Amino acid sequence: MSEALEKARKYESEVKKEIPEGQKPSFHVSAPVGWINDPNGFSLYKGEYHLFYQYHPYRTVWGPMHWGHSKSKDFIKWEQLPCALAPDTVYDGQGCFSGSAVEQEGTHILMYTGVSAAAPEEGGGVRQVQCIAVGDGVNYEKLECNPVITSDLLPKGSSREDFRDPKIWKEGETFYAVVGSRSSDSSGQIALFTSKDAKKWKFVSIVDRSQNSYGKMWECPDFFEVDGRHVMITSPQEMSAVGLEFHNGNNTLYLIGEFDKENNTLIRKQAAAIDYGLDFYAPQTMETANGRRIMIAWMQSWDNHITPSHFKWSGLMTIPRELKVIHNRLYQNPVRELEQYYQNEVKYDAVTINGKKEFEDIRGRELDFTVDVKEGGYRKFTVRLASDSQFFSEIIYNPKENSLTFDRTYSGLNRDIIHTRTMKVKDQGGRIRLRILMDKYSVEVFANDGEQAMTSLIYTSLEAKGISFVTEGEVTMDITKYDVIIK
Ligand code: FRU
Repeated sequence: MSEALEKARKYESEVKKEIPEGQKPSFHVSAPVGWINDPNGFSLYKGEYHLFYQYHPYRTVWGPMHWGHSKSKDFIKWEQLPCALAPDTVYDGQGCFSGSAVEQEGTHILMYTGVSAAAPEEGGGVRQVQCIAVGDGVNYEKLECNPVITSDLLPKGSSREDFRDPKIWKEGETFYAVVGSRSSDSSGQIALFTSKDAKKWKFVSIVDRSQNSYGKMWECPDFFEVDGRHVMITSPQEMSAVGLEFHNGNNTLYLIGEFDKENNTLIRKQAAAIDYGLDFYAPQTMETANGRRIMIAWMQSWDNHITPSHFKWSGLMTIPRELKVIHNRLYQNPVRELEQYYQNEVKYDAVTINGKKEFEDIRGRELDFTVDVKEGGYRKFTVRLASDSQFFSEIIYNPKENSLTFDRTYSGLNRDIIHTRTMKVKDQGGRIRLRILMDKYSVEVFANDGEQAMTSLIYTSLEAKGISFVTEGEVTMDITKYDVIIK
């Protein structure tokens, strides 16, 4: 084991003891200590789900990237494993950037981006190359033959600096990988490679490209099939908002279409945002043994990270979400395994409210509840969360405008950063179904059975447990609530 990896493992195991009990989310993966960003290596290995992540153990801000590591039998209860990769070679000395994993004949193959400084005679800057490490679920060895893919394989004019985040998978005996890249027009493109042994790779095609219409560099690509459709997901940088679609800066995008097998390109039928919240980036997927496609993302934003300064950890992941494609739209819902942790069921059928209403048995910060609002002529419907006498956050539905807003203005932020986002939902005459999943600091909203999602963080004191419903006009709704209790 390298000195750098040994140091990281020792540091994380000591410093994590200083984190107060109960401060961390209960059923979402969070940074062991220090900083985490993108999910990496989300995969099934020897019957367990493994998740790695971009990790800088030593500070709660981004730094030289390591890979942190956790595993789970059910996506909900996670066990932390020792740090898996450290930047300790000539080709990854500036960071082990994002990547993915696949099981291969009893071994666990990690594919990641090595970042190093380029020689001054080569124009300086950095070089990004693709590398492999092989392990047993805890310890990983980087291959002697690294890097296995360099930008020399890319079409002429492609960037040598922005070439990262390989997503590897296997079909039969053949490995494939999609990698984010920047084309000669400096906008994003996704390159497809293939290999027989995960060591020698061949360039196949550019599967899709931004052509300067959806942001610039396309980070963290993933490419898979769901419900007979091909889906590409990617996280573009330098996006520009278009109406309520997307927000400026780092964003996420799904492209649904058909794969043209002759040219190895995606024929797009749909392009849309994956999530409309304030804190969602770099999603990655895996397939379970029974063929479910599960997506997880970093639940934080590059531009506004709001972790309280006294925390010794920063960054968490979304709930793993099952994907479906219905009418060329990507639906997402929390993995069904969550239901095993439900307790204290509460159900209200067809309750009518006009004004403000609280229910004694609906409160808390670790719960999963669904509100089914019936058709009606009301003007506004609000769910108020994480509230006490001073603080609250709101999910607001305006049936006339068909808009759903998440607002954390009064959640106790100590900086005046972006605090609301709004999305259009479909017109159903005032009818809307909202599933809201909270785990201390996170609010994940799934609208209309997962047709759209909105993921945001709030760092309101955990004492603020109030939930209320506020309406303008008469609203009739069903409510179902479960506390999520992890033992
Ligand atoms: C996305 C990203 C990746 C990169 C990693 C570095 O959030 O910028 O493209 O590999 O983070 O930590």
